[in-house]
Amino acid sequence: MSADPSSVSALPRYSRRVVEERDAHAELLADFRAGMLEAPRTLPPKYFYDARGSQLFDAICDTPEYYPTRLEADLLERHADAILEASGARTLFELGSGTSRKTEYLLAALEGRIAQPHYIANDVCAEILDEAGGRLLQRFGHLQVDSLCGDYAAALAHLGDVSGSPADGPRLFAFLGSSLGNFEDAEAAGLLQRIRETMNPEDRLLLGLDRVKPRPVLEAAYNDAAGVTAAFNLNLLSVLNTELGADFDADGFEHRAPFVEEHSRIEMHLVARRDQVVHVSEPEARLEIAEGEAIRTEISRKFSREAVDRLLAAAGLEHETEWSAPEEWYSLFLLRPGAG
Ligand code: SAH
Ligand code: AVI
Repeated sequence: MSADPSSVSALPRYSRRVVEERDAHAELLADFRAGMLEAPRTLPPKYFYDARGSQLFDAICDTPEYYPTRLEADLLERHADAILEASGARTLFELGSGTSRKTEYLLAALEGRIAQPHYIANDVCAEILDEAGGRLLQRFGHLQVDSLCGDYAAALAHLGDVSGSPADGPRLFAFLGSSLGNFEDAEAAGLLQRIRETMNPEDRLLLGLDRVKPRPVLEAAYNDAAGVTAAFNLNLLSVLNTELGADFDADGFEHRAPFVEEHSRIEMHLVARRDQVVHVSEPEARLEIAEGEAIRTEISRKFSREAVDRLLAAAGLEHETEWSAPEEWYSLFLLRPGAG
């Protein structure tokens, strides 16, 4: 990361605070115990994003095959003014903001409407928050940036620490990049419900979702020719080695990412190339992994219209407007909290 976190934190229009409902390391331990001690092995996707994982995700966005970023950026570029107009927002709060590169379209539109715009960024990766914050402050001369470093749920629980007074509202919540698609139905609906409960009646949610499209396009996006997605997937093993004192050998695994039509999702796996034993210090464990065994590291759902409608209904969010890429390959939904 090129930004020096200590220097950006010292800037007058920037703050970053750690928000955690549970100690992040304790959470990884619990998730590892629950998902990795026996087959079928799996982990939640948030552990990809140490500083290197965030850099690799950024590089994925630049690959020719990874279309979601370009489609969403194009929609935001064309419709940011209409989105800000429709939401009437004075504050932008973004979940899983990453580099905030696409967000700049929304911030430019916000700056055009408000003398002192306020951006609240949330991410699990401190380095990416500070780097993005430094860049945004340089571009937007009157912007206040407050970063909440932690899980989505913790950021929602702590949003009131940095926003909520009448001067802040209405707020536009943004959850972009189809990050909601990294969750199964129940978890996704739970997260959207939590967002809805945090929203005031006049707040709006901008939700970016990737849609169903032909298999070759989908599979190319998660199996890019340069191998950036493979490196991103394998980087999870070095996160586990560092955080848990494990001895995973990345050469012992290969990246796979098929589209599983039955669930309308890409599944990312790390597949063992040979029988192997992995030692972990904390929690003390010895994993016997057989050749061909797959660790499922991520799901990335591709939403049909019916799936979107079901999810929004389950979460109590109402549809206000939407903008879609050609052939509905990607959509932005502007949503309001339902009454009940
Ligand atoms: N919104 C950006 C980044 C998407 S990548 C875009 O559209 O390009 C997903 C981002 O969410 C990463 O920056 C990652 O660090 C963050 N993230 C993943 N899981 C998270 C969680 N549970 N809580 C908060 N941030 C999370
Ligand atoms: C962040 N998330 C929505 C990305 C996705 O497409 O599911 C993460 C990713 N994984 C592999 N490539 C990109």
